[in-house]
Amino acid sequence: MQRLANKRIVLGITGGVAAYKSADLVRRLQDQGAEVRVVMTRGSQQFITPLTLQALSGNPVSTDLLDPAAEAAMGHIELARWADLVMVAPATADFMARLAHGHAGDLLTTLCLATEARLVLAPAMNQAMWRNPATQRNRELLGERGVELLGPGDGVQACGDMGPGRMLEVVDLVDGVCGLLPSLLLAGKRVLITAGPTREALDPVRYLSNHSSGKMGYALAEAARQAGAEVVVVSGPVSLGCATAIRRIDVDSALSMYDAVHREVADADLFIACAAVADYRPATVQPHKIKKDAAVQEDSLQLSLVRNPDIVASVAALAARPFVVGFAAETRDVVGYAADKRVRKGLDLIVANDVAAQGIGFNSDENAVTVLGKGLEQSFAQASKSVLARSLIELFARQMGSNQN
Ligand code: C5P
Repeated sequence: MQRLANKRIVLGITGGVAAYKSADLVRRLQDQGAEVRVVMTRGSQQFITPLTLQALSGNPVSTDLLDPAAEAAMGHIELARWADLVMVAPATADFMARLAHGHAGDLLTTLCLATEARLVLAPAMNQAMWRNPATQRNRELLGERGVELLGPGDGVQACGDMGPGRMLEVVDLVDGVCGLLPSLLLAGKRVLITAGPTREALDPVRYLSNHSSGKMGYALAEAARQAGAEVVVVSGPVSLGCATAIRRIDVDSALSMYDAVHREVADADLFIACAAVADYRPATVQPHKIKKDAAVQEDSLQLSLVRNPDIVASVAALAARPFVVGFAAETRDVVGYAADKRVRKGLDLIVANDVAAQGIGFNSDENAVTVLGKGLEQSFAQASKSVLARSLIELFARQMGSNQN
């Protein structure tokens, strides 16, 4: 079986002696069914020629950001969008440093910055350079942003040193890539996700809301897209962008989120309710700005609130329903409350997170969660929301699959 059938891989080659292995890497990726396009830095061309890579990949090799002919054929942004995965092998210490700090001074760094595809590096460098705290910090920074590192391996180096820094062997790199693209687990599936907060209007200028940033929902949307799904996000007001391939429906109140979800849900296979929906809304929205009444000198104002519909429970109650996943933000007895919520709302899975814990949850870039289902309790350690989202999507896809069996 070809494990990379129809996958589009951009292979970036930077200037290290391990570049000679990249020629074989192209072939072995192709053996698994991948289409490969090669981008070379100036340094890499001292080790291996573009002509070799062009002949092996069957595609023109891109080397220059400012080459009008190459840009006319497939420009760097087009290449960034084309890729399902961008792999840089070998990745030198210099390349890692430039990538970690967002440089875009050549074609490869620009492409890495512009792509929304999975980014994988195979570091290759002298052992002392690898161990250097600067490189280690760059490795951490890249990891935090969801960049995957394959290797380096340990052993004898081209310079005669022994230690970590060798580029992994080609077969291990191919294996690693296959593992990272665990086929398109959601290919052909439609995923509907709610994300962000809702705003419940009091009058034309004021509203009730919460601190949800939408980051977890958007990370899930991106992970679902990368897993091959057609994704629709029903989003409360957030300051986030998403890939053009994701259809985004902007809403504000819980009622408008409810309506949008029910318009979209009919052909969804998976519904993920990640939004922090306000439980209550003002009973009436005043047509004009509520005034402080100077004559009466009231020190308090009574608001009357009414219950909002529970969107995720209403989807779970549909006769023809998708696989339904909810979230539970709790501050104590996280697993206990979440388990109860899952049953009460009729959900297939619930993702529980402790919003009282430092550095995770609302508004943070990281999260740590426990997923509960019937006979399932799986915890995921603290990680960036994008890394976590990939693991969650993988779990949801597998659970959906076993549900159908
Ligand atoms: O009951 P609670 O708000 O804690 O439940 C959280 C889960 O329910 C989340 O998945 C959230 O998106 C969903 N929810 C909803 N509609 C509501 C309230 C919560 O879909 N009105």
